[in-house]
Amino acid sequence: MKRLSVNIDHVATLRQARGENEPDPVTAALIAELAGAVGIVSHLREDRRHIQDGDVYLLRKVLKTKLDLEMAATDEIVEIALDVVPDLVTLVPERREELTTEGGLDVVSQFKRMKTVTEKFHSKGILVSLFIAPEKEQIAAAKNAGADFVELHTGEYANAKGSAVEHQLDRLKRAARDARALGLGINAGHGLNYRNLKPVAKIEEIEEFSIGQSIIAHAVFVGLERAVKEMIDILREAGN
Ligand code: PXP
Repeated sequence: MKRLSVNIDHVATLRQARGENEPDPVTAALIAELAGAVGIVSHLREDRRHIQDGDVYLLRKVLKTKLDLEMAATDEIVEIALDVVPDLVTLVPERREELTTEGGLDVVSQFKRMKTVTEKFHSKGILVSLFIAPEKEQIAAAKNAGADFVELHTGEYANAKGSAVEHQLDRLKRAARDARALGLGINAGHGLNYRNLKPVAKIEEIEEFSIGQSIIAHAVFVGLERAVKEMIDILREAGN
């Protein structure tokens, strides 16, 4: 069965809205683990709009599954990540004015930087995933840069309407096959929710999904444990 990692950033978004200490994203992470998540994802952004440095260190200490630290490959955040030593780093592009990570990394044009940063993480035993559009050139570049995983960006699939949905699904299927052929681990995420997850979950090669917004939004009404379990149920229904 496919695995679910839960992104808990938006619990911190709510906390930061008041500058208080609740709700606590670390508590959310522990509940998500108990509900069946195989990992916790958290994005330490340059502007620290949600997750703070202290959260990441605490997550590292208390998680029983794995910590996937999402981050831009900037010097400052790379230094912090090398100190935290997460199980996995997922490198993403980051623009200050964006509401969320908008596109995939252009590994082709930033090849040297990606390779250097990947080597730094490997020297500390940290696995590296590159968040990319489902495109063959990006997958090949990720492999050549030394990445262990790619995370296929599902945002365009999630935003597609009508016949474009099938087209985006085909792109993801092809990309997953290409990545598998190169021996990369394959994760996927962005914009996935209770309504659109199942077709992507049927793609055999994808091993794990990274989902945040929809789970935290649902949790406001039904509680986090149930929200995580309902998402895992969809993965179970999708089979393989
Ligand atoms: N994967 C990556 C690389 C992301 O940047 C995000 C958003 O933080 C997600 C997955 C989760 O996306 P969503 O919150 O839309 O589920």
